[in-house]
Amino acid sequence: MLVVIEGVDGSGKSTLAKALVDYYNSKGITSIYTREPGGCKESEVIREIVMSKEYDRYTVALLMAAARNINYEEVIKPNEDKLIICDRYTYSMIAYQGFADYCSKGLIGMDAYVRFLAKETEPIKPDLVIVLDISPTKALERIKENGRDTNRFDTKKVEYYEAVRYGYDYCIGNYGGVLLNADVPPEQLLSYAIKEIDGALSL
Ligand code: TYD
Repeated sequence: MLVVIEGVDGSGKSTLAKALVDYYNSKGITSIYTREPGGCKESEVIREIVMSKEYDRYTVALLMAAARNINYEEVIKPNEDKLIICDRYTYSMIAYQGFADYCSKGLIGMDAYVRFLAKETEPIKPDLVIVLDISPTKALERIKENGRDTNRFDTKKVEYYEAVRYGYDYCIGNYGGVLLNADVPPEQLLSYAIKEIDGALSL
């Protein structure tokens, strides 16, 4: 079973994803955490490359797709009988490279090639995608408050994240998923997410 947690940077995805893994393991449902880009040795190397500097959106999308395929082969496929909580997946590619990077070039709408690359080459369809929704201004404030290491994506402006958010709405409208308000305390977000996962997977 594959459950994906998506959202703009600073929305609290990673915290939620890890809390979900702990919760389900404590309930006797074997659960593992993985992330994109990354999740296994080789894909973490790709992550380092892609985070190290600005590349054009096609290079980023292709690197992300390669990292996804390897993570699928190495982590997701061998664990399909378990509950896999994946921190980002194909909606990130559509929202970031398909919408936000496209719009940053002064273009309006979405890059169809990126959408093709994300959806037509998707290694497996998730059982559920949860998108954490928060205003980009709030999310950027959180990143500053947390004082975590910033990456090249964190230097983007609010408008960039507005486009990412628009991209997520597009994905939910076209491919399904649940939008959860992430502007709530972490425990509350966790209980919302558990309710959605229990319902979707009949747990
Ligand atoms: P993230 O995993 O959220 O990092 P952190 O753990 O530091 O919060 O960051 C990964 C970045 O990669 C994020 O800014 C979004 C970006 N990304 C894409 O642009 N396209 C993709 O297909 C994926 C999977 C991620």
